Amino acid sequence: MRILKNILVTGGSGFIGSNFIHFLLNGADGFEGRIINVDALTYAGNPLSLADIEEQFGTAAGTAQRYCFEHGNICDRPFIEGIFKKYDIDTVVHFAAESHVDRSIHGPEAFVKTNVMGTFTLLDTARDFWQSEKDALFHHISTDEVYGSLGDTGRFTEETPYDPRSPYSASKAASDHLAMAYSHTYGLPLTLSNCSNNYGPRQFPEKLIPLSILNILEGKELPVYGDGKNIRDWVYVEDHNRAVWTVMRQGKAGEKYNIGGENEWENIRLLYALIGIVSRKAGLDAEKVRASIAFVKDRPGHDRRYAIDCSKIKKELAWKQEVNFEEGLSRTVDWYLSNSGWVNSVRSGEYRRWMEQNYGRR
Ligand code: NAD
Ligand code: TYD
Repeated sequence: MRILKNILVTGGSGFIGSNFIHFLLNGADGFEGRIINVDALTYAGNPLSLADIEEQFGTAAGTAQRYCFEHGNICDRPFIEGIFKKYDIDTVVHFAAESHVDRSIHGPEAFVKTNVMGTFTLLDTARDFWQSEKDALFHHISTDEVYGSLGDTGRFTEETPYDPRSPYSASKAASDHLAMAYSHTYGLPLTLSNCSNNYGPRQFPEKLIPLSILNILEGKELPVYGDGKNIRDWVYVEDHNRAVWTVMRQGKAGEKYNIGGENEWENIRLLYALIGIVSRKAGLDAEKVRASIAFVKDRPGHDRRYAIDCSKIKKELAWKQEVNFEEGLSRTVDWYLSNSGWVNSVRSGEYRRWMEQNYGRR
């Protein structure tokens, strides 16, 4: 079991990263170290997601401080080198990315910069800084989308050849290849995980589940791309993060692990389920809400189906999902219902302008 002390979390102010920091500092099994969150605070990063963490574990904790925030870009090499030196980083868990497929179709450049060049900068700095350090670890976070699109049957395994089809997944695939190349060529101690669609608290409302929750609550249209029969495999963010932590502590260097929910849903069926839950909790008429579903023009190159075979991590590292879909959706809806300050902060500014420019006023 690895002992991880000074962990650099990149993209810790985003959806999965902020949940990871909550998970670790709120008592994840075996963690007694310090977290350094490096985040550029793009439209998707929100300091409010970590306000309670900052208060409890940040500068106010004095010598007991276990959480440090550093505002900066992962593409900025001198800045990243400074972070490694200042905090004597022994572990990197690399979440930072441009993460939304629709945005990658409208503007791929930022995806190549952050996902490819940013990952390269981190890998190369780690190689320099750690030299032949045996106890260090770089964990690279990736997606099942690198594997391409499935037909009606089959699931992605760790051996499935890469076949990315959107600028987002292509940039993630490039970063995965760089990560594995640094492990293979330079012996950088590295693990990698490819996960299916996450959902849960603090997810930016451009992705299907949080966008739909808020649109239902605000009486807005619910856009469904194409025929609504595309399939995603949904995993609760805390289950993903427990899997990441398990790989970081026990995974074999040089190996990759698939993580998934084993929970496939057609988008339209998922939306019906979500409408049921939100309507019940918010006192809305589910039949009326259903009438707001609008089948809109399909996403170009829209992948039909994703499904993950995660038997490797289950068998080798004894991880399993703990939160079923109904429970996870219920927790997620509760979180959005009771965090209107967070919702208002992300619904304003740059994101709203971008949505209006690309999709018209909602
Ligand atoms: P997110 O968009 O919510 O958060 C990304 C974070 O990275 C934000 O805080 C943002 O400010 C930061 N960031 C972006 N560019 C940066 C840069 N150049 N320098 C420093 N920080 C920068 O993303 P997420 O959904 O939390 O995804 C996290 C990771 O997990 C990504 O690598 C993504 O590819 C992967 N992933 C996501 C999902 C999913 O369903 N969301 C599934 C599988 C894998
Ligand atoms: P999304 O949450 O963007 O994740 P990803 O594209 O990475 O899988 O989308 C999930 C699915 O929902 C995908 O098939 C696209 C579809 N979708 C809609 O039908 N309507 C929407 O408004 C959004 C954002 C997504």
